[in-house]
Amino acid sequence: MSALTNKVAVVTGSGNGIGRATALALAAAGASVTVSDLLVDDGERTVREITDLGGSAIFVETDVALADQAENLIAATVSAFGRLDILVNNAGTGGTSGRLHELDPAEFDRVINVNLRGTFLCSKYALPHFLTQRDGRIINIASTYGIVAAPEAAAYCASKAGIIHLTRQMAVDYGPDRIRVNAICPGYIDTSLGRRASSMSVLEIVAASARREKAAGMQPLGRQGLPAEVASVAVFLAGDGASFMTGSILTVDGGCTTTFNYGEASN
Ligand SMILES: NC(=O)c1ccc[n+]([C@@H]2O[C@H](COP(=O)([O-])OP(=O)(O)OC[C@H]3O[C@@H](n4cnc5c(N)ncnc54)[C@H](O)[C@@H]3O)[C@@H](O)[C@H]2O)c1
Repeated sequence: MSALTNKVAVVTGSGNGIGRATALALAAAGASVTVSDLLVDDGERTVREITDLGGSAIFVETDVALADQAENLIAATVSAFGRLDILVNNAGTGGTSGRLHELDPAEFDRVINVNLRGTFLCSKYALPHFLTQRDGRIINIASTYGIVAAPEAAAYCASKAGIIHLTRQMAVDYGPDRIRVNAICPGYIDTSLGRRASSMSVLEIVAASARREKAAGMQPLGRQGLPAEVASVAVFLAGDGASFMTGSILTVDGGCTTTFNYGEASN
């Protein structure tokens, strides 16, 4: 029997990147998984990857910033699998760069709505199920940029700092109900370049490669992380090995937040 056999998990934004890797890793650990994303083709691809490996998964198209869709995501999961044990709030957006006085208020709202409100909404609709079971595990994907400030990323930094403190606050409110809430702060993880390269010009690819090299050099481990290296920590937090952990904020960043050099190229 695998560590998460008979457990049911929802992973938001699991059509790509860290969310996809987390959905695959939870399924490999025995959980049934609801894959959800704005992008239907990408989400359905993750489902196929899980089922091809013998796992159990469904796809629910969801914009986490919208209350009715977040509510539907949780309801559809419970309807399909009969329960819910694990919620990974991973869906996120970066936002445009620029200093705060240049930032369009609508863009600020968009980033906060996806990253912070989306985490709030999916948790809000999952928690009644966890309360009934007196068990549940929420893993919020924040960012090292919620701990250290990055240039020209006010909305993103504020949203991720908000997720970190929401994690602690929820841990306080729901600890007595045996619901654990923890956060992961990834550093520079190699997720989107490969996927977007086909739509980039040669110059854009060269610039992105240079940024990646620079970011890799900023980290004590000397390289970018892989989505699977975040996913494995999410699986740990979802499992009984983390049974005395709640309100914890774990950096998975190659050590970059321990140095002075960090800040320019990551997210
Ligand atoms: N990659 C990194 O270096 C890094 C670093 C720190 C934190 N993070 C965080 O990790 C999480 C995943 O990032 P990633 O790099 O894998 O990104 P990604 O772009 O590879 O994947 C994100 C997925 O989320 C989906 N998504 C976006 N908005 C959504 C919404 N409103 N509702 C539902 N799905 C939505 C996208 O369609 C996409 O499939 C994000 O919260 C991000 O902020 C990433």
